[in-house]
Formats: sequence, C-alpha cells, structure tokens
Amino acid sequence: MATVVGSVMTSHVPAIGRAIAKGLQQDPYWKPFFDGYPPVRRWLAQAKPDVAVVFYQDHGLNFFLDAMPTFAVGAAAEYVNADEGWGIPTVAPIRGDASLSWHVIEQLVADEFDVTTCQRMKVDHALTLPLALFWPGEGPPPVRVVPIAMNHVQHPLPSPKRAYALGESVGRALATWDADVRVVVVGTGGLSHQLDGQRAGFINKPFDLMCMDALVDEPRKLTKYSALDIVREAGAQGTELMAWIAARAALGGRVSKVHSNYHVPISNTAAGLLALANDAPLSRAA
Ligand code: DHB
Ligand code: FE
Repeated sequence: MATVVGSVMTSHVPAIGRAIAKGLQQDPYWKPFFDGYPPVRRWLAQAKPDVAVVFYQDHGLNFFLDAMPTFAVGAAAEYVNADEGWGIPTVAPIRGDASLSWHVIEQLVADEFDVTTCQRMKVDHALTLPLALFWPGEGPPPVRVVPIAMNHVQHPLPSPKRAYALGESVGRALATWDADVRVVVVGTGGLSHQLDGQRAGFINKPFDLMCMDALVDEPRKLTKYSALDIVREAGAQGTELMAWIAARAALGGRVSKVHSNYHVPISNTAAGLLALANDAPLSRAA
C-alpha cells in the first residue's frame, strides 16, 4: 500500500538554477534562501519517498497560448527538460511512474476532472528546480515523478476551490494505490510575485504568511478566494499558489509542520518553502 509521507512546497524562480550552477549558495544574496533547504533535505532523507507527485505550472515550454490545458497529467516513463531561454543548464530526463500516473488519471476522471493526459511532456524549471533543491548534487533525483501541470498562464484560471478539489482527488488516488511505495506530494511556484505590467515587482508578505499558516491547519480557508482575488492579493504570477493548495489538499487530514522559510525577494518573487509531515501517513486501500 502506498504511504503518503507528506508534502513540500517551494518557489521555483529560474535564477535559482543559475545560482546552483555557479555555486552561489553562500553568497549573501542567496544564503537566506538556500539555508532554508537543509532541514527539508534531512526530513526527505528520513521519509525516503520513492515517488513525487508534483503539482506545478508549465511556463510555455510544453504548452503555449495556442493550446492550454487547465490541468495536464504526465503519464510517461520519463520527462525531458529543455532550454526555456533563461540561460540555466538543462537536466537529464526525469524518471516517471506511468502506472501511478494512470491510476491518478483514472481517479481524476472518475471525479469528473476532464484532464489532458500527456504520454510525452517536457518539464520546465517549475519541476526541475524543486527537485534540484530537495536532492542537490550531480546524480538524478531519487524519485520517480507524476507531474500535474496547472494552468496559471492564460485566463480563465481554475479557482483555488478547484485546485483544492483536484488535490483531494489525487489524494483519493494515492489512498487506493496498491503498491509498496512512499509518496511525497510537491507543490511548486509562488509565493506572491508579478513579473510584468504596472505592478511588476509586486510582493505581499502579509498575504503570503497568512497562506503559509493556513496551509498547515486550515487549508480550506484559502478556497474562499477566487482566482482573480489571488491575482489581486499575490500578483499575476502569485496564482502559482494554487499548486500549494492542491498539494496540501492531497494530504487530507492533519499534518505537522516540519520546516518553513520565507525570504523576500529572490529575483522578483517572494520565496517560500513549507514542508509538512503527514500525521496519518499510511494510506488505506479501499
Ligand atoms: C520568476 C518567478 C517565477 O515563478 C517564474 O516562473 C519565472 C521567473 C522570477 O521572479 O524571476
Ligand atoms: Fe513560475
């Protein structure tokens, strides 16, 4: 039976990839950011996940404005990374878990999510950088991934309520996954940021900290916001928060906070990190 060990949510700014490539972790600009990760790495080393279900966003690498799925689930044995134009090194293909992907897709469709299924899908910095932060070094990350891309690019966007329901459905899938695997649920993106327009550089620390608190004990509180509320409160790209909401919803019940970090700014973004241990990690096959 699958064991859902918990969740890690993190920002995914491309500049992190450049900082890793240049070894800038101790640089005064980067240190307060990178110092957030060792406690999370230690927890992951103990929790030993085999699989990471990753709620993230595609920023134009695999999907563009001409054809934008609201929710797309990878169902491949591996996912290729490619140059997105940020000038950061690309990484070797990331291993997938196609069997679990199809099980997740079955549950999502049963729960009336009409998802796009992708047997070939490129993954961008939103998926590769969190893995590099959690499992640094030369080798491949020690997990297989189930990538779930959520549209945060082209309006209309899904609502936080819908993101929560998506996460709950994935949680149901994990609870009935009859395989001896340990699963961590990852949410990437956020927190508040806006990269363009009149509010470029916008950051809302009180809102971010409220969300990070709510995600621990009262995540449903965040479902009262509309997608446009999130744009207003967290900036146009702050809607990436939706991936954190989905990841938390996949855990369901009570969680314990393992670690959190918040540092402003990294590039144009309020960089957040939150690791949650599942208080009832053993899933029960239905
Ligand atoms: C930045 C943040 C993002 O979430 C992203 O996808 C790209 C760039 C930034 O702050 O530079
Ligand atoms: Fe992003």
